[in-house]
Amino acid sequence: MSEYRIAWMPGDGIGVDVMEAARMVLDRLGLDAEYVPADIGWEFWCQEGNPLPERTLRVLEESTCGLFGAITSKPKDEAALELNPELRERGLIYKSPIVSLRQRFDLYCNLRPCKAYPGNPLNYRSGIDLVVFRENTEGLYSGVEFFPFPDELRQAVQAHNPAIERFAGVPAEEMAVSLRVITLGSATRIIRRAFEYARDHSYPSVTLVEKPNVLRETSGLMTRAARAVASEFPGIELWETNIDAQMMWLLKDPEDYGVLVTSNMFGDIVSDLAAQLVGGLGFASSGNIGDHYAVFEPTHGSAPKYAGQYKVNPIAMLLATRLMLDWLGESDKANALESALAQTIAAGKVRTYDMGGSNTTLEMAAEVIANLP
Ligand code: NAI
Ligand code: MG
Repeated sequence: MSEYRIAWMPGDGIGVDVMEAARMVLDRLGLDAEYVPADIGWEFWCQEGNPLPERTLRVLEESTCGLFGAITSKPKDEAALELNPELRERGLIYKSPIVSLRQRFDLYCNLRPCKAYPGNPLNYRSGIDLVVFRENTEGLYSGVEFFPFPDELRQAVQAHNPAIERFAGVPAEEMAVSLRVITLGSATRIIRRAFEYARDHSYPSVTLVEKPNVLRETSGLMTRAARAVASEFPGIELWETNIDAQMMWLLKDPEDYGVLVTSNMFGDIVSDLAAQLVGGLGFASSGNIGDHYAVFEPTHGSAPKYAGQYKVNPIAMLLATRLMLDWLGESDKANALESALAQTIAAGKVRTYDMGGSNTTLEMAAEVIANLP
């Protein structure tokens, strides 16, 4: 029996290419793992009407964690048109399997490290070492949305909030509402994760990125939660900033920040900006982490125009693999992989197209392997 069972989810498009690179590296590292293939992605939507089949959920439930490549996703109307004709009349609605996974396994913590490895020609500047903690399950992406705006809700809101008077004359079918739901439990657990990370990785501060002067209740609750958690970590300072100003500061002085924590939509935005500061999609990895399970992935999509061509950069995928090794407690292997990646980037001999080179996905993986101790 292997020590770990890893749910192996290449997905589709370039997900397949970069997962092959990950497998080469894991095999060379000698992780004592069984890799259990699990179906996910566009093909399974088209053929079966479900991009995340039940059998995949069984594999995940019986695994230690999951490693995921990328999938194609389309808006629900377009998705419906590509369904197998036999399934078309059943009223199936496409839903992103990544979102389903996060909800199903309560993977509330989206961890996105963004580091400027020396020698990367795509770095915006040197010395950047940001780690974004994004709440992954609620906030503005809770899925609590209304259209047309229901009468009962209008009355209830009106009774509590005079500001709604401004919308009194707007017909229900001319008004859409998405609720930004933040619960104290979820706010506290994501903020605690950020502080624990800062403590374990020697960051002197944690920056809470919100907007409490305008979003008084939801950002206000985040702020109260952050202050309470901060009091448990006397060595780590809490900085409170506003999302809009923080975007300017991240461009102006990115090297001044370390661990950032925020709610779902702000985190979505902050983490894409942070990723671009250190090389963009070819370098952006993430972990979707819960209390008992986690799925690691590059943040890029399936890039259909490059599918199967082995042209894209596997570094994002390999950094995700490194996050997985860290989460498993395999810190020697995680550190070895990170230093091999850093060395490969610094040497600059092997580069994929996004870095200005012409090497393939697997040549890059082979170079990383050659740089392993
Ligand atoms: P994308 O991330 O797939 O690709 C956009 C462009 O970025 C590519 O055309 C390529 O030029 C570049 N790129 C991406 N990954 C790269 C890598 N590893 N190395 C070098 N260059 C890279 O985003 P796009 O084109 O908007 O979406 C394509 C499909 O992927 C869509 O169906 C979308 O819904 C889906 N998607 C899936 C995600 C996931 O699986 N987590 C995340 C984002 C998009
Ligand atoms: Mg995003």
